[in-house]
Parts: sequence; structure tokens; C-alpha cells
Amino acid sequence: MKTKFPLEKFKQLSTPFYYYDVDLLKETAQALKNEADKYGYIIHYALKANPNKKILDILKEYGFGADCVSGNEVQRAIDCGFSPDHIAFAGVGKTDEEIETGLDHKIFTFNCESIPEIENINELAKKRDVVADIAIRINPNVDAHTHHYITTGLEENKFGISRWQFQEVADLLKSLKHVRLISLHFHVGSQITDLNVFEALCDKVNEIQDWFKSQGFVFKHVNLGGGLGIDYTAPNEHPIANFIDYFAIINKNLKVEKGQKVHFEIGRAIVGQGGNLITKVLYVKHGQKKSFAIVDAGMTDLIRPALYQAVHKIENITSTGAEKVYDVVGPICESSDCFAQGIAMAEANRGDLLAMRSAGAYGEIMASQYNLRKLPEHYYSDEL
Ligand code: LLP
Repeated sequence: MKTKFPLEKFKQLSTPFYYYDVDLLKETAQALKNEADKYGYIIHYALKANPNKKILDILKEYGFGADCVSGNEVQRAIDCGFSPDHIAFAGVGKTDEEIETGLDHKIFTFNCESIPEIENINELAKKRDVVADIAIRINPNVDAHTHHYITTGLEENKFGISRWQFQEVADLLKSLKHVRLISLHFHVGSQITDLNVFEALCDKVNEIQDWFKSQGFVFKHVNLGGGLGIDYTAPNEHPIANFIDYFAIINKNLKVEKGQKVHFEIGRAIVGQGGNLITKVLYVKHGQKKSFAIVDAGMTDLIRPALYQAVHKIENITSTGAEKVYDVVGPICESSDCFAQGIAMAEANRGDLLAMRSAGAYGEIMASQYNLRKLPEHYYSDEL
């Protein structure tokens, strides 16, 4: 389904703003659910990608759980109607207050990333005389072949517990009375488009599960995290992520124990293609070598190009002029405030509206007020 932009309505709104295509979001969620159901897989929506209340209201209807990385995300998921026993809580630096929030609600798992964290959760649970269900997040040393800022599963990354610590963790867990290890957790990176990475991950999961089994641990759950990529260069041609091949690869390569439930934490692939940043051309400045389309959105509204050299397809949605080549830049006082260099789009004039596509994940939520700018507004296709 191709996103349609209601231009007459857009013209009455002040820019920049995020525009969410609710039909595409629902179609994507349904496609994901259909594929996951084929194998009995359990999906947690990774709130960090986009925690807007309306998006959560829509996604919970598909029966997804939530994957959270802060106490506030846990609270947001609960407030929006996600069941606490479907909430996984990850993160290398959970504060006591955040752990207390999880304990208050008896969440599904704390995904623990270090030995001191396991010890701390045990202490906090002991004070309440409860037992907290935990997963240990393993750092499997699998290269996700994605941007190094969003690679998480290598030995050099801060995430998870590495192989050389397994024996110590296993011995520790046998001695602690207020944490119960129910799952292994893995997440090797984001925007992964090389599906072989997931095959390599499965091989590691199988081997690591066997090691823990040999130590007497039985896991009712295994959590493979998220990371499935989307097509940023061709959102119209590929509006829905390749859930079919993704789950087929996992199903083929993952050894699942009898009765074991397989979980995923998917963010970008659910909400990425449904969001667009709509911005207005303020000025077109012709240099000697290039032309700049200066727009009213900046890196404060969508930081991904500046931070990860990310590509977002940019379309001039109000011009029918012949294609010309532009650098599309924002108004912020930083040279990195550049959305694209040397891209072709329909001739731009002052007042034209541009759509920065595939901005539904890690777009609006990463906005900042640098330069004392306003945070962007958002609108939904079924409300305009
Ligand atoms: N689970 C864990 C433990 C994670 O750290 C993440 C993402 C996910 C699941 C969801 O991954 P996804 O399915 O969305 O790839 N701001 C960056 C992405 C950071 C991803 C952080 N962790 C970006 O704009 O590309």
C-alpha cells in the first residue's frame, strides 16, 4: 500500500510535523501477526522506536507484548493497556527506581545485562520477599553488518553478558533465591538487512542454550530481540518488511526445546514505513556547484541522517516540476544538519512540501529542542 498525502489538509497545518499512515501501520501489524502466528512466535513491540499513545493503542489490539528500556516506557506500556506479564525490560543501566517499577507490576522479565545488575535485582526483590523472573542478555559476538552505532552484539559493545562470564553467572544464579532465570535474551543490532545474520545468531543461540542445559538450566522462553531492517530507499515498493523470510530463517535454524516459547522484540519493522516527516521549503539557494533546498525541519526533528548517515527518501509532494538535484538541509547551526546530498527530486520552490519517508521509527521520539526549537507535532491519517 502506497502512502497517500492529503495535500489540501497539509496546507492548513504548520510544518514540520510527523504524519502517520494508520492503514499502513495496521496492515504491517497484521502481516507480522500472520507470520508470527504460523510458528507460534510471541511478538513484543519495542516501544523505543515510537511510544506515541495512539500507536500503542493500535498495536496492543494485535496481541503484542511490549519491550521497554526505561521505567517510563514500562509505565507507558501499562497505561496503554499492555499486560505486565507481556513486558520485557532491557537496558544496561536500570536504576533502582526503574527496577521497582517493574517489580510493582510483576513484569514478564528483566533482561539483565551484567552480574552486578542481577545481584541488585535479587537484593531489591529480597526486600519485598518476592522472586523476580529474569532473562540474561547474552552478547553472542555476532556481527550484524549494520551501522556501528546500532550494532550491539559484538564483544566490544557494552551490551549483554559474554561467553567468558557464563560459568560465573551460572554459579551465581544457582545461589540467588530472589531471581529466577526463565529465558535467554539476544539482540545483535538494528536495521539488519542481511538475513544471514539471523542464521548466524540462531547457531549461537543453539550452542549457548546447550551450554546452559548442560549446567542444569531449563528455559521456558528464548528471546531473539529485534533488528529486522526496512527498505529506506524504496518505501513505496517495499512498504512492509520481509517478515516472511525472517521468520522462515529463524524457524529453519533455531533449535526450540519442547514447550519453549520464542519471543521477538520488533520496533522499526512495525512502525518505520508508516511515518513521514513533512517539511516546507523555506528557500532555494543556488550555489556555484550545487543547489540547496533549505527546509523548516532540522536535525532536531529527525536526527537519523546526522547521527547514522541514514538515508530517508525525500519527495517533493507538491511539485510536478522536472527533477533537479539538491542538497536538502535544515536551519540548525551545524553542518551535520543535512538530510541528503545531491538527490534528485521535482523542482523545489519556496513553500513546497517535502515528505521525508520511512520516519516512523526513531524519528519523532529522538527529536530535541536544540536551538530552542519547538518539538514537531504529529497527525494521523484517520484523524485529518
Ligand atoms: N530489543 C533491544 C534490546 C533493542 O536494543 C532494540 C533496539 C530493539 C529490541 C528493537 O530493534 P528494532 O527492531 O527496532 O531494530 N536509533 C537507532 C536504532 C537504535 C536501536 C536500539 N535498540 C536508529 O534510528 O536507527
